Amino acid sequence: MESRKKNTGKKRNVERNLVSRINTLHSECENTYRRAVETAIEIGQLLTQKKLELEHGEWGKWVESNLAFTCRTASNYMRLYENQNKPELQKCKGVFEALSYLKEETNKNRTKTRQATKEYRRAYADMDLDYDNPPAGQYENKVIAGHNCQVMQEMLNHGMMAKYSAVLGSPPYNVGMFYSSEYDDEKAFDTYMNAIAEPFKYYPDLLRQGGRVIYIVPTFLENKHRDISGDYNYDFPYELRKRVEKVAPSLRFFGHIIWDKGDKAKNPINKKYGSFCSPERPSMRVGHEQIMIWSNEQFTLSSPEGIKPDITEETFLELSWTIWNIAPLVYKNNPHPCSYSSKLAESLIQFLTFPSDWILEPYNGSGVGCKAAQLLGRKFTGVDLNKNYCVYAKALLDAEKYTVSKARMKTILKGHKSLWKHLK
Ligand SMILES: C[S@@+](CC[C@H](N)C(=O)[O-])C[C@H]1O[C@@H](n2cnc3c(N)ncnc32)[C@H](O)[C@@H]1O
Repeated sequence: MESRKKNTGKKRNVERNLVSRINTLHSECENTYRRAVETAIEIGQLLTQKKLELEHGEWGKWVESNLAFTCRTASNYMRLYENQNKPELQKCKGVFEALSYLKEETNKNRTKTRQATKEYRRAYADMDLDYDNPPAGQYENKVIAGHNCQVMQEMLNHGMMAKYSAVLGSPPYNVGMFYSSEYDDEKAFDTYMNAIAEPFKYYPDLLRQGGRVIYIVPTFLENKHRDISGDYNYDFPYELRKRVEKVAPSLRFFGHIIWDKGDKAKNPINKKYGSFCSPERPSMRVGHEQIMIWSNEQFTLSSPEGIKPDITEETFLELSWTIWNIAPLVYKNNPHPCSYSSKLAESLIQFLTFPSDWILEPYNGSGVGCKAAQLLGRKFTGVDLNKNYCVYAKALLDAEKYTVSKARMKTILKGHKSLWKHLK
């Protein structure tokens, strides 16, 4: 009896010790986690100070040659430091939980920003802004609101034959983009392809010998909304080439460049399409576009008298490689849903035209192509169906670089103060 009691007491003691040990270790663990967050914040502070001391462009190299971790880890530390005062962050147990919290916050904010940008762009596209086209016959460094085919016919009527050295453009991709309530960007396939091929009828007359048509186009598009029968992914370059051969036989195919748009991480897979994680019918994420180039009558473009090329040997070597890795850009306050990258436009202009050459942008949009031409000392004419985009393009041409200031945008949007909140 006595010994049974002793045994039970002993067992209880062992149990009590075990529970207390577990709880002590747990609280040590929690303290360690919390200390880890504090330590991470301190690392973030040191990194932030160092980054401020460095010149633009030196940060990556500094991290690589001095630290035992990557730039991405460094950014995580710095984000923890930046957000250290958020009460939710202080409650986090461990660095991993803190980072997950920040990631979730960023995603929520990103979704809100995307939605707001979409609203701003839709509202802008449908505004009724005043835009005065230049008088008929004036095309030098002008932006014209109108249908490109009609404007090009008018150009030819005004003696603009063989004036241009390049057509640089990116047509709509027929993927349901919103360019205004009047524009249908989800046309039946043939209607769409015929509309895209039509402007080619005018290019041979507007281009001088050897003048280039440079088109930034989708590589292939999956048949998500189109009405072609069957399960068909259309190959845009192939379809366009077939039509160009018919409507503009003097345009000779010069070649193409693959524009690798980079960052997979920013374009997560849409699990709604195709068979996710199964070879049954996988959906492909298209990470590249194509730049198609034709040359008028002959491949050689002579240099204008007394003009030397403005491309360096280093840039030429880089650009003559047929894969270009250029990240797409988003510009502050730009109301257009798909402006192209200034680097892409500048590279194409430098690689394929001479200074003082004249460039035609038949799908001018926000005018990034014309701006690139202006900055590189070329002449230009931009045409777009939507006059509101022409208003913006004109403001961009007056700006120093590729951003229209908030003040200028406010004057453009003057009757629509509700849109000011979107300006940066
Ligand atoms: C893909 S976006 C071009 C964007 C432009 N590269 C930029 O940087 O902003 C196509 C543009 O073509 C315009 N567009 C479509 N059909 C047109 C036509 N037949 N004539 C003139 N512009 C047209 C649309 O309004 C839209 O702005």
